[in-house]
Amino acid sequence: QAVRLWGGRFSGGPSEALARLSQSTHFDWRLARHDIAGSRAHARVLHAAGLLKPDELTRMLEGLDRLEADVVSGAFTPTPADEDVHTALERGFIERVGPELGGRLRAGRSRNDQIATLIRMYLREEARAIAALLLDLATALADQAEANMDVAMPGRTHLQHAQPVLLAHHLMAHAWPLLRDVERLRDWDRRADASAYGSGALAGSSLGLDPEAVAADLGFSRSVPNSIDGTAARDVVAEFAFVAAMIGVDLSRLAEEIILWATKEFSFVTLDDAFSTGSSIMPQKKNPDIAELARGKAGRLIGDLAGLLSTLKGLPLAYNRDLQEDKEPVFDAVDTLQVLLPAFTGMVATLTVNGERMAELAPQGFSLATDIAEWLVRRRVPFREAHEIAGACVRVCEERGIDLPELSDADLAAISPHLTPQVREVLTVRGSLESRAARGGTAPARVAEQLAELRAAVAEH
Ligand code: ARG
Repeated sequence: QAVRLWGGRFSGGPSEALARLSQSTHFDWRLARHDIAGSRAHARVLHAAGLLKPDELTRMLEGLDRLEADVVSGAFTPTPADEDVHTALERGFIERVGPELGGRLRAGRSRNDQIATLIRMYLREEARAIAALLLDLATALADQAEANMDVAMPGRTHLQHAQPVLLAHHLMAHAWPLLRDVERLRDWDRRADASAYGSGALAGSSLGLDPEAVAADLGFSRSVPNSIDGTAARDVVAEFAFVAAMIGVDLSRLAEEIILWATKEFSFVTLDDAFSTGSSIMPQKKNPDIAELARGKAGRLIGDLAGLLSTLKGLPLAYNRDLQEDKEPVFDAVDTLQVLLPAFTGMVATLTVNGERMAELAPQGFSLATDIAEWLVRRRVPFREAHEIAGACVRVCEERGIDLPELSDADLAAISPHLTPQVREVLTVRGSLESRAARGGTAPARVAEQLAELRAAVAEH
């Protein structure tokens, strides 16, 4: 038998079409545990306010325990007649403790303050789980960096060869954004850390219930300062969706590189069989599907954020039913990251680096031209002139189809009297790497320091 929470002023039941539109248990049921935790806290403040006798509180808590056990075991589930998770759980509660006691629990609360609180509880929990998965991926990147500490590669800008860098340096450039995402989740939590319980439908509760006590009971450090804001705001939900989308974008950028690196043309990495897929028609194929799915799911995560922001735009205060649409986007974002991150981390942890191939390409494309210019600067040549001279070297090489180190002493002298044979010191990948020795640079000693810094940052979180 359906227990509607609002039947009193209606003469008939809702139409089938309305019930189907309105129903949300197929997605909000995942909040059942948090709803029951909220009910326990609420029962305690009802008791503290003198609205429940001690034995009534005991029976309520005991009934909620039984309800929770049945929810966890699957013995209790919503029926198609239950509008939402709150309705279903009230029905289950009344079935267990009877309508007299069961009918007392809802006093002084509304689904509006309940849902605003539950979504925060849920997302705070998931944010911690996602942060842990991000740290696993950052660790996998640090491990690959450490295992390939002296592999040089072509550093690129505009996807063109720019300057040689260490692969470890490049890999860690993907790890730092992930650590910032972890920090974003931590920082977001400070704003999510406020219970909306006690806000009632919008105006607050008249029954002397203590919102701070409920907040503490539910693991919040405070309750919201404004009941209208508490029930109507969803910026905290949208901000979570933003961080999820940002994580998607960060993964997608690395994914794109892995896809390129795994091509025949690059041949920089080989993916482990367990983390790649084949083709149903082409027997030779080994595809980077995990990276492609990561790239694709970034679009989906951005869509979750964009959809949610569109829902919120222009909504008047306070609660509007539109707000029920806040849940599926963030649930989707959570589920997406929960399946994506472990697979992505596995792919990164198991890929094999072709260090020789990377090193071979590192000096190609005249990527040492900047080193010539900077060598000249160290010899007091103005940079403007040095840039011209190094550019002339590239032009000569291009005309002759040779690379910079192949210029003869005579070639160098003909380009500029400043170019003595000593310039060859910097015309090696090693020399180029080692010269970038300031903090954050690609010099091997700096990259080793950076690895220690990254490991410490991971450990600290
Ligand atoms: N299921 C709703 C939501 O997710 C909460 C119920 C509020 N409904 C209402 N008619 N005030 O936002």
